[in-house]
Amino acid sequence: MSDKPVCVRDFEHRAKRVLPKAVFDYYFSGADEQESLADNVAAFSRWCLFPRVLKDVSRVDMSTTVLGQKLNMPICVAATAMQRMAHPDGETATARACLSAGTGMMLSSWATSTIEEVAEAAPGGLRWMQLYIYKDRALTHSLVRRAEEAGYKGIFVTVDTPYLGKRRDDVRNRFKLPSHLRMANFESPDLAFSSKEGYGEDSGLAVYVAQAIDPSLKWEDIAWLKRITSLPVVVKGVLRAEEAKEALKYGVDGILVSNHGARQLDGVLATIDALPEIVEAVDGQVEVYLDGGIQKGTDVLKALALGAKAVFVGRPILWGLACEGEKGVSDVLQLLREELHLALALSGCRSLKEVDRTLVRRSGHVSRI
Ligand SMILES: Cc1cc2nc3c(=O)[nH]c(=O)nc-3n(C[C@H](O)[C@H](O)[C@H](O)COP(=O)(O)O)c2cc1C
Repeated sequence: MSDKPVCVRDFEHRAKRVLPKAVFDYYFSGADEQESLADNVAAFSRWCLFPRVLKDVSRVDMSTTVLGQKLNMPICVAATAMQRMAHPDGETATARACLSAGTGMMLSSWATSTIEEVAEAAPGGLRWMQLYIYKDRALTHSLVRRAEEAGYKGIFVTVDTPYLGKRRDDVRNRFKLPSHLRMANFESPDLAFSSKEGYGEDSGLAVYVAQAIDPSLKWEDIAWLKRITSLPVVVKGVLRAEEAKEALKYGVDGILVSNHGARQLDGVLATIDALPEIVEAVDGQVEVYLDGGIQKGTDVLKALALGAKAVFVGRPILWGLACEGEKGVSDVLQLLREELHLALALSGCRSLKEVDRTLVRRSGHVSRI
């Protein structure tokens, strides 16, 4: 029997075998009881596909745009921190795999490769910068400026992390970066999360966030960000319709419906369930994207049908990276691409323009409609 992975879960199982336990735990964990971690995935099953037939699907075009930039498919890579724990090439391998797949990569502020290194690893690739707003605004500004200079095409500002969610395994493991690694975009050991001590009995990352990230973030800070950059700004982590409308008033260029991979507030709504209200509230004024729990092509199709312009995947990319570096990430992207292609064809869609709200219905088994 072949042991070639045939689904994202196969990559996850293999990654679990090869990664040190504390690293796998950090990548895998959701917050608290991990209810939302499971629900982000399960929620997709509460939506059913309602396919069309006899549509000549001998050709299916999956190309699209995000913030005006062309992509070969509506599946992009979400920011996940500290990728060199998964593979020595870390974020540079992910960037190369995204370039080959013709898709975009969101680089974490907490990358273990610099903004510039990642740009140089895949010239011509499409990249966006994920931004945490630090208490030190000059430092935050310098991350934005560096992303601009290195040719990144947008800023995804994370708004759901005034403090770090409680990830129990990280507390148990006293999670820190392995000593040969650092958050490469920062100079001082404190900001690079590479201090030898000072993290006590807690998750080291929770302590880091409490020290460095600004919990007083508010809408005026989005206005500040819009003022300091000419790049498009997307808010990452909005779940409520009225906040999506508020974001429009502040001139944001996109909304990423996200619950941070269920790593912040446990018990939070699954992102696919939050999506329809946001799409309705935004009413086409800006693009809406989704992340959280995407594991297969039909999940992507459901998100598109409910109005997402594109989706972002987090953990699946880390599993591919852990298994085989750049090739592993390419394999995961290719797998999702093939699955989406098949799902589109079997739903009678020849292009993403033909994907609409009528392609999904709330499953009859659930009372929560
Ligand atoms: C290990 C890990 C690290 C993450 N690091 C960041 C980060 O640095 N910044 C951020 O905004 N989101 C971060 N996220 C959240 C992702 O960007 C994304 O919202 C989430 O992973 C999507 O869910 P999925 O993993 O189920 O695809 C991280 C998620 C994981 C799993």
